[in-house]
Amino acid sequence: MLIHSSSQLLTLQGGPQRGHALGTLGIIENGAVVVRDEKIVAAGTTAELKTSYPGEPTLDAGNCVLMPGFVDPHTHVIWGGDRASEFEMKMAGKPYLEILAEGGGILSTVRQTRTASIETLIAQTRPRLLRMFAHGTTTVEAKTGYGLQTATELRLLKALLALDDETPLDLAITFLGAHAIAPEYRDDPQGYTDLVCETMLPILCQWWEVHAPRRPSPFVDVFCEDKAFDLEQSRQILTTARSLGFPLKIHADEFGNIGGASLAVELGAASADHLVKTSDADIAALGKSETVAVALPCTPFGLAEKEYTPAHKLIEADAILALATDCNPGTSWNESMQMAIALSCRYMGLTPAQAIAASTINSAFAIRRSDTIGSIEVGKQADMLILSVPDYRHIGYRYGTNLVKQVIKRGQVYSVDVGYYRTA
Ligand code: NIG
Ligand code: FE
Repeated sequence: MLIHSSSQLLTLQGGPQRGHALGTLGIIENGAVVVRDEKIVAAGTTAELKTSYPGEPTLDAGNCVLMPGFVDPHTHVIWGGDRASEFEMKMAGKPYLEILAEGGGILSTVRQTRTASIETLIAQTRPRLLRMFAHGTTTVEAKTGYGLQTATELRLLKALLALDDETPLDLAITFLGAHAIAPEYRDDPQGYTDLVCETMLPILCQWWEVHAPRRPSPFVDVFCEDKAFDLEQSRQILTTARSLGFPLKIHADEFGNIGGASLAVELGAASADHLVKTSDADIAALGKSETVAVALPCTPFGLAEKEYTPAHKLIEADAILALATDCNPGTSWNESMQMAIALSCRYMGLTPAQAIAASTINSAFAIRRSDTIGSIEVGKQADMLILSVPDYRHIGYRYGTNLVKQVIKRGQVYSVDVGYYRTA
C-alpha cells in the first residue's frame, strides 16, 4: 500500500532525541510511505514513491499530516471501579496523599480491583484501550498494581495479555506490585517489601515463562515516595528485579524528593517517571544516562496542582525526555496523548515539535522499543496516524477534540469516525 499526498510526513528518523536535539521531526513535504506485510518499506516524497511503486494500491492522506503512532509509555490502564467521589473531595480541598493515608486513593481502587473477576477487569479496560487507540496511541505501556497481593496481580497480568492479543494495540506490560503498601501490611511496610522481593518477583519470573514465553520481559516498577516505598525499599525491590533479569522503571519525585531518579540512573532503569520535585543533582544524573525522563503533565493537571516536570532543565542537562498520560483512576483518567501534548506545551514550555518527538521516538525508547516503533523508517513496524490537520503545529495548539482521522496499525487501516448517527 502506498500512502501518499500527506501535507507533511513527520518521519522522526534517527533514534531517540537527547537534550536540545528534541523536536527534530524529519519533515518531508508532500510525503508518502509504502507499507508491506506490517512494515514500512519506503518513505519519501509522493512524486518519488509514485514513480518507484507504480502498481501499488493507494491510500490518499488528503493533504493531512502523516506521522508515527503515539507511544504512551506510562499507564495504569487496568483497574476496577472508579473514584469519582474522591475527585469531588479533592476538588473541595483534600490532598491526594491524605486520602491515601486514610485508606482511600490507590487502596480504594485496590478494593474494587480485588473483588473484580478477570472478565469484569477485561470488560472495563477494553474500552479505555480502544479510546486510546482512537486517539492515536498505537503502543501503550500498562502496569498492574491495583492488586497488591499475588493472586490479583497475576489476574491483572493475565487480563493484560488477553487484551494485548485482542485489541489492535501493542501492550508493553509492567509489574507494579510495589504500587502501595498492601492494606494487610499497613503497619509493616518492610514486611510487604520483603513479600514483593521474596515471593511475588520469583513467582512472576516463573509465571511469565509459562504464560508469555515469547513476549518481551515485563518491566518492574516501584512507587518511590513518602507513604509508599522509601529509597532503601525501592532499591531492594529494583535490585531483586534486576537480578531476576527484569528491566526497570520507577515512579520518582511525584510529590516529594527522596532520591528515586538517581536510583533509577544508578540501576540502569529504562525510565524514571513523574519527576516533578526532582533536584538539580538528579537532573544532572539523568542527563548523563540512558534512563528516559518521562513527564506526565496530565497528573498535576488532574490533581489541579501548579507544579509540572521541569522540562527545560532536563533538556539543558541533555536528558532524553518523553511524555505519557499516566492514565489511572485517581490522578489522571485521561486516555489521549494529544491531551498530554497540549498540557506539555502550556505548562512545561515544550514546542509542538518537541512534544511530538517526546510522544513518539522518545516514548518508544522509554519502553525500549525504539528499534521497531516510534518513527517512520524503512524496516520499522507500520504504526502511523493520519491527522485531520494540515500542519504539525496544530498538535498541541488544538485540544479537547480528537485530531486523528485514521490509525494505521501494523499496516492495517482503521478509520476514526467523525460525526454522529441517529439511531432508531
Ligand atoms: O502515577 N503515583 C502512583 N500512581 C499513580 C496514581 C495511582 C492512583 O491514584 O490510583 C500515578 O499518579
Ligand atoms: Fe503512575
